[in-house]
This record gives sequence, structure tokens and C-alpha cells, in this order.
Amino acid sequence: MGNNLTVVVLAAGGGTRMRSKTMKVLHPIAGRTMIGHVLVAAREMQPERIVAVVGHQREQVAGHIRELEPDAVLAVQDEQLGTGHAVRMAVEAVGDVSGTVLVAYGDTPLLEGASLRWFAAEHEASQGAVSILSGIVDNPFGYGRVLRNAEGDVEAIVEEKDATPAQREVREINSGILAFDAEFLLEALPRIGNDNAKGEYYLTDAIGIAREDGLTVGAYPIDDVMQTEGVNDRAQLARLGAEMNRRIVGRWMRDGVTVMDPATTWIDADVTLERDVTVLPGVQLLGATSVAEDAVVGPDCTLKDCEIGPGARVVRTHGELAVIGAGAAVGPFSYLRPGTTLGAGGKIGGFVETKNASIGDGAKVPHLSYVGDAEIGEGTNIGAGTIFANYDGVRKHRTRVGRQARTASNNTFVAPVEIGDGAATGAGTVVRQDVPPGALAVSSGPQRNIEGWALDRRAGTPQAEAAEAALADRGDAEQGVAES
Ligand code: UD1
Ligand code: MG
Repeated sequence: MGNNLTVVVLAAGGGTRMRSKTMKVLHPIAGRTMIGHVLVAAREMQPERIVAVVGHQREQVAGHIRELEPDAVLAVQDEQLGTGHAVRMAVEAVGDVSGTVLVAYGDTPLLEGASLRWFAAEHEASQGAVSILSGIVDNPFGYGRVLRNAEGDVEAIVEEKDATPAQREVREINSGILAFDAEFLLEALPRIGNDNAKGEYYLTDAIGIAREDGLTVGAYPIDDVMQTEGVNDRAQLARLGAEMNRRIVGRWMRDGVTVMDPATTWIDADVTLERDVTVLPGVQLLGATSVAEDAVVGPDCTLKDCEIGPGARVVRTHGELAVIGAGAAVGPFSYLRPGTTLGAGGKIGGFVETKNASIGDGAKVPHLSYVGDAEIGEGTNIGAGTIFANYDGVRKHRTRVGRQARTASNNTFVAPVEIGDGAATGAGTVVRQDVPPGALAVSSGPQRNIEGWALDRRAGTPQAEAAEAALADRGDAEQGVAES
């Protein structure tokens, strides 16, 4: 498409029905803001430029648009005097437009680039002054109606509040997306007045103006009307959010992903999945998460901006900015915080929390541990209940464990500290000094038993009774042994 295409995105309205301190178009759906979705669709047309019209909370909105689309032209509409006025602000901000101008709204998250491309192609083929992306709906209330004459030619758009009862019966509505010949648009904008029920400058009046001038106008109904549906309140936000999710999940299933329960599976727009991935019930794949071939995720995981390697298995896990290697196993009940990387064939097991931790190929942290600011070498096994004590109350420090080490249960590694390749530790060790390669570190003293302590110090308690009974039994047994 068009070297000579300008896409105008209107986003100046207040969105008061959202009752939110966040501007309507900045509310997220499927991991992108609403206007983010529209900008992606606009970009797919490879237009010469995108112009965004901002007004309410313009700093917030403009900042966001600049982040997503640094080359976009930002037009400011101080007062929302209507869609006609908004487009005038857009044209003034550009200075000079030619070719085709396509107008869309910033609050229609389901809009697809392919639909815009199709519509712009219809418009350009018609060589008309203006074209309407229309839709046939059961309940047209609130929309501008497309009025056609006896021949079926489009004559005008009339807004709900200005329509006669007969006009209100019309079920062909203006989606709001219009395509203009730029020359005609420049001509028509100053001729649009505000003498109507809302006292606004209606962009839709341009249709009547084109017809008065004897120019061609077309209306092209879109089959998938939902793509042009706007969000006005939180209920619509949820409804369109669910619809978008349904579409995203459906697309992945068509591309070869097994999704056991689409209803409880949430996949953001920017997630990527390879073939033969399996997603079990209750999974949210968010942000820029990617899952490679044959991996199985779920049930019950939330993974944001994570990279899951081929054939990995992730069960009941909450993860963010973590990288899981090929064939690795995570969960159940694991908490992967940013900076976690797990090598191929490695394991992060039940009730393990990790942060800024790189765990090597085949290395395992199977049970009940905290691994923060750590490096664990390939093939190493960390015993159950190990704490990487990374925080001295002021600063964070790193712990390095070499390859093929075997550390025992209930250890504390007091950072900064290093445990060498092939080293070992005893149960309950508190490692405060470096352990050389191949050494065994033991920090708890030798065990001392004070015989009869419970009988003496806990006399009369169930503890003492149990001890007494056991000792009596043992006495018999020992005698038995002695007798035979
Ligand atoms: C508009 C159309 C109507 C169409 C409907 C589809 C006009 C006059 N009417 O009506 O034919 O059926 O959308 O949803 O165009 N905006 C600005 N500045 C303004 C006014 C609006 O940026 O001064 C933006 C809003 O933020 C919104 C969009 O334009 O994103 C539409 O405005 P809205 O007031 O909702 O128009 P409708 O009355 O719904
Ligand atoms: Mg509206």
C-alpha cells in the first residue's frame, strides 16, 4: 500500500465512562494498550505517516505513543469539539497531506491491519472522494447511520441524535473508520459546521458534502463488525478482552498448539508459541513470553516475559523474565523472579524461589530453597532447604557454586562466598568461607547425646513416658541379645 497514505488515529476524548485515572486508550488488553493495538494495525499498512490526535491527559497519551511509534506526528486538540475538528487538527499538524487519509479511533483494540488494508484498497479502487467502513448490526443504537438512496448509493451519514425515527431503523452503521481523498478532505473540512444536536463538528458531514459536490462516496460493510467496536466502559473492556483472547488462542490452536481449556487460557498478543506446545488449564502467558516446541506449560502458571525452551515442563509456576532451558523441569509451586536462567535438563522444584540466578545445564535445586544472586555450575545438586543468604542488611552479594558440586540439606550460603567444582557440604552447614574444589565443608559441631535427659528434665510428660517405654523395650531386647 501507500507511499501516499496517512493514518489518523483519534484519541483526544476523555473516556469518562471508564471512571479511571488512566486514559481510556491506555488501558491494556492482551498485553498491549488499546491504542497500541490500533497502532500495530496502522503500521501494518506501511503508511507514509501516522498522526495521533491527543487531548485529554495528553502528556500521558503522547508519551506512550512516542514510545511505540517514535515517528508518529502528534496533533493536539485542546477542546474536543468533534471528530471533524479533531481531523482538522491532524491535518494542520502535518501541514500538507496528499494521497489517501484514513481515519481510525484509538479505542478499537480488535481492529486488524488486514481489514484496514482491504478497506483502503476498496477506497482507492473506487477513486471516490470518501469511503466508509460500515457494518450491518442488529442494534444500531448510538451509531451514525449510513443513508443510501433508492439506487443504493450512499447519500449521507446521520448521527443518532439527529436522525428521524425512520432513519434510526437503518441497520447499516458507520464504524467510524473513513478513508478520504486528501484533496477532497482539505476542501471539505472548513465547510463542516456544528449546527447539530451535539453542537460538534461532525467528520461524517463530509459525506453529505461530497454528494453535494457530485463526488463518489462508497460504504463497505465489514463482516467482522467486532473489529471496529470501541470500548467505553470496564464491562466492554472485559468483553473485548475475552474476545481478543478467544481469537489469539484460536489462532495458536490452528498453528499447532494444544490448548486443553481455551476458556481458562490467557495469551497476550505478543506471545509466541511453537508447534506441539501443550498448554494445560489455568495458564496465563503474558508479555513477550515464548514457548518452544514440545514444551508443556501448566496447569496453573503465570509466565510474563519468559522464554521456555523446547521440551521443558513448567507446572504451577509464577515466573517473570526467566529463561528455562531445553528439557528442563520447573515446579510445582516455583517462583521465578527476574534474571533466572535454568540450563538444559536442569530442575527448579517445589517451593523454590529464584532471582538473578543462573543455574547450569543439568543442575538441580529440587526442594524448598531460596536462590538469589547466584551462579550454580553444570550438574550441581543443591540440597533441600538451602538458603542463598544474599543480603547483609545493606547490600546484596553473589554466591558462586561450581560444577558437579553436591551440597547437603538445610545449608545457608552466606554471600559473598564461593563453593568450588566438585565440592560437598554436610547437612546444616552454614558456609561463610570459600570451599575449595573437592573439599567437604562441615560447620555444625560433632553431635553429643546427653543420655536420659528427657526422663530427668521432663519427668511426668508424655515425652518422658515415651522415652521410658522405648528404653525399657530396648533393655529387654539387649538382654535378649545378651542371653542368646
Ligand atoms: C462517531 C461517529 C459515528 C460512528 C461512531 C462509531 C462522528 C460525528 N460520529 O460517533 O458516525 O458511528 O463514532 O463509534 O464522527 N474524538 C476526538 N476528538 C473529538 C471527538 C472525538 O479525538 O473532538 C475521538 C474520541 O476519543 C473517540 C472517537 O473520536 O475515539 C469518536 O468519538 P465519539 O465522541 O465517541 O463519537 P461518536 O458519537 O461515538
Ligand atoms: Mg463513540
